Amino acid sequence: MSVFRAGLLDGAVALVTGGGSGIGAGIAKRFVDHGARVGLVGRRLEKLEATRVALEDRGGHALAMAADVRDYAALEAAVASVVERFGRLDILVNSAAGNFLAPAAGLSANGFKSVVDIDLVGTFNACRACFGALSEQGGSIVSITATQAFVPTPLQCHAGAAKAGIEKLTRDLALEWGKSGIRVNAVAPGPIADTEGMRRLAPTDDAVRKRLEGSLPVGRWGTVDEVADAVSFLVSPAGAFITGSTLLIDGGQSLLGGASMLSLLGD
Ligand code: NAP
Ligand code: COA
Repeated sequence: MSVFRAGLLDGAVALVTGGGSGIGAGIAKRFVDHGARVGLVGRRLEKLEATRVALEDRGGHALAMAADVRDYAALEAAVASVVERFGRLDILVNSAAGNFLAPAAGLSANGFKSVVDIDLVGTFNACRACFGALSEQGGSIVSITATQAFVPTPLQCHAGAAKAGIEKLTRDLALEWGKSGIRVNAVAPGPIADTEGMRRLAPTDDAVRKRLEGSLPVGRWGTVDEVADAVSFLVSPAGAFITGSTLLIDGGQSLLGGASMLSLLGD
């Protein structure tokens, strides 16, 4: 159940990259519950269609579009489809990303580049492709970064660099696009339960995993709904004076610093 009143986003239209699964799909569901219509972008149409059906089962209106965020022309086409179908675009959420654990000394140049291309270049591509439609009546962008953007994190130099770039891009676009009526923010989640990110990054050993979870100041992983609520706040009228910011949603994990995760390197 959402903590916000019904109708928070009535009439709004959103595009969510990476909206076919995990945090992006959770945000799309929250948006639909708040009255928004939603376009979903990802590479695999079957996943997007399954999420679209789930959104329509909740009484929402959604559109699924296969596009790789590294392909600017494909994103432009997706934006055009959303505007053609729903008449406008008010909100962009950048949730598409790729990640894996890899030691910097063993990571190939193409492995590093692939993550930067999906996360950072893909986020710029989506923002740029949405600029025209968002500036028609004003709007809001939220990008999903991660605490790796500013906490040195072992095995995560590629994702950390990409997410740090997104947070800087967020401030630059907020400065340039404010006069066009577009607010640009980011949220930096910590570990979020039941997601692909956690399946890829969290320790597989149960005891180590529990110890890491218990070490968080709030003593537990976060939930997809908690990220979706924070994003809903930022894009809603309640966030009308917020731009250029990154909101931490990490249960205090970043307060512990990077050394708390050095054990991930093993011996
Ligand atoms: P996820 O379910 O794998 O979400 C990523 C989505 O992006 C997928 O639906 C994927 O679908 C899509 N995608 C990947 N590459 C793409 C590309 N090149 N073009 C278009 N779409 C692409 O993982 P998640 O854990 O929910 O992560 C969502 C976001 O939250 C990411 O930005 C991640 O960095 C961030 N985050 C997650 C956590 C966590 O604990 N899970 C913590 C901090 C930040 P396709 O493969 O079909 O394209
Ligand atoms: N460790 C080290 N390098 C890896 C790797 C891993 N686990 N997985 C992929 N790579 C490298 C590949 O070896 C390749 O480099 P190379 O050409 O030098 O061999 C490079 O990354 C690109 O791999 P490829 O599989 O062609 O990339 P892709 O564009 O098809 O997929 C990924 C991108 C690798 C990020 C893939 O994991 C993905 O699609 N992820 C999306 C979902 C996701 O990560 N969700 C969690 C979000 S937090």
